[in-house]
Amino acid sequence: MAEFTRVADVSELPEPGKLLVEVDGDPVALFHIDGHFHAIDDVCTHDGGPLVDSELVDHTIACPRHGAKFDIRTGAALSMPAIRATRAYDVKLESGGIFLRLREASTGPVSQTTASAMPAVPVAAQPAASPTASTTAPATVAGGGNAASGLAEQALSEDLVREMLKEVKDPELFVNIVDLGLIYNVTIASEPADNGRQVAIDMTMTSPACPAGPQLIADTKRTVGSHRDVGDVEVRIVMEPPWTPDRMTDAARDQLGIF
Ligand code: FES
Repeated sequence: MAEFTRVADVSELPEPGKLLVEVDGDPVALFHIDGHFHAIDDVCTHDGGPLVDSELVDHTIACPRHGAKFDIRTGAALSMPAIRATRAYDVKLESGGIFLRLREASTGPVSQTTASAMPAVPVAAQPAASPTASTTAPATVAGGGNAASGLAEQALSEDLVREMLKEVKDPELFVNIVDLGLIYNVTIASEPADNGRQVAIDMTMTSPACPAGPQLIADTKRTVGSHRDVGDVEVRIVMEPPWTPDRMTDAARDQLGIF
């Protein structure tokens, strides 16, 4: 188990307060609220945004970049687009100092102890983890579903392409890319080329470094390309305007348990 590291003096963090500290070179957001100290990595698990300077509401802090929320007591991700917890730390108060130790995933938070004049205060119990999914889960392999449903045989249109793309699901969230709000534009060439009509799709990602990106692009091309009248499929990744959670449909929100 890691050792506790002294990161600040208690006097440096009056209540309510926030402080950016370091543990083994990693930025850590330290909070003092309601008589308790809490610490989590100052890193949003969606795309690395810093957290400490954001507004704190009760025990929830929202990433300023795309709005993911985290519980400062446990690091649990509470809302999209983050799906993984950020790391939490155990806190110990001793000799007027604040000490942190990376919390092991298998253990719950420990009671905060103090050898100073401050009273010992328990850390709140860890709530249930937010909905998460393995990052290694395969994406839905598209095309077969459209063939089975007959979509690939229907008259080609933008609406039909969007319907076909509902067969492509984000491998982490298990929600289709249309309901996630990732499809910005669909353009179908009016005149067919030798091999069929060209389809251009403007697609975004929930973050520029989305690890599922190549897989989603490949599945998008395969799915739309399965239509009998489609020739080439071009997928253009656009990051402007940036994706935000409010682009999701109600169906996606229901699926992710977001209200
Ligand atoms: S980087 Fe935090 S929500 Fe995107």
